[in-house]
Amino acid sequence: MALRIVTGTSHLELARAAADAAGVSLWPCEVERFPDGEMRPAVGGVRGDDVFVVHSLGPPIDAHIVEMLLLLDACRRAGAARVTAVLPYVAYARQDRRTRPGEAVGARVVLDAAGAAGADRLVVVDPHTAALEAMSPVPMEMLTAVPLLAHALRGIDDDTAIVAPDLGAAKLAERYGSLLHRPVAVVRKVRLSGAEVKAEEVVGEVEGRRCLLVDDMISTGATIEAAAGALVAHGAIGAVLVAATHGLFVGPALDRLSSPVFRSVVVTDTVRAPASPNVPIKIVSVAPLLGDAIGRMHRDEPLDDLLMTG
Ligand code: R5P
Repeated sequence: MALRIVTGTSHLELARAAADAAGVSLWPCEVERFPDGEMRPAVGGVRGDDVFVVHSLGPPIDAHIVEMLLLLDACRRAGAARVTAVLPYVAYARQDRRTRPGEAVGARVVLDAAGAAGADRLVVVDPHTAALEAMSPVPMEMLTAVPLLAHALRGIDDDTAIVAPDLGAAKLAERYGSLLHRPVAVVRKVRLSGAEVKAEEVVGEVEGRRCLLVDDMISTGATIEAAAGALVAHGAIGAVLVAATHGLFVGPALDRLSSPVFRSVVVTDTVRAPASPNVPIKIVSVAPLLGDAIGRMHRDEPLDDLLMTG
């Protein structure tokens, strides 16, 4: 089975870099767009091949989901022997349960759709919740970019506390804490709406310390802004560093992060970063991680040291 890496339009640069890292060129895929906006991807010459569709589900999210489904279906119908969807950022992962009656469970819908469209396996990076694996209709590998981000942050000051901006990020903060050998604190957050949150208290020692806030993703920046405010109120010193795997930076995020409260923001390229003249954003590429994982999966080798644990 030959290794083929295919991508659509969601993040060509990342897919190309991942293919380079896996030692192959991107396999040609045409994406035609009709005047009414419909997409028609076409993938040829993959009969009997081991195909990896590298496709990020960043904004515009729903369009990228439809494109992913069409790409998977195209590969299956073209006779691929095995199709793996590599989704560096999985949208809808925050909708992993109903928070009030009448809602959908968006994460389940997206994963079911990927399986039904032709994915034999899924690969994701630092999904919002590990519960995603149990919701997936096909085997899922959850890679982590935390060691890559921690490596980029290895020069942080000795007095830095690693801070989770909410309870959901506490385990993540512990992973950074053990890689960077720094103590961990947690902010207790209450979400008021999709774009507004309130930080209620800080558990752990931040007074007189610099802080590194860590999260799985930055969307509107509300969580990070509220947490940074709580850290300042609890006596943290210096401007706050921020690290997250997925930098969506939607709505008011860049305005919020341009405050002098923040020193810099380190994210990966799972989602295309917007231009941000006022926010010092450092980007760490996950392409080597994806390329390594794709190569190993193609050769049926273990992924253990690349996986999210705990
Ligand atoms: C929520 O639990 C997530 O881990 C993030 O903290 C959150 O989704 C980030 O969104 P925003 O930047 O809009 O606060």
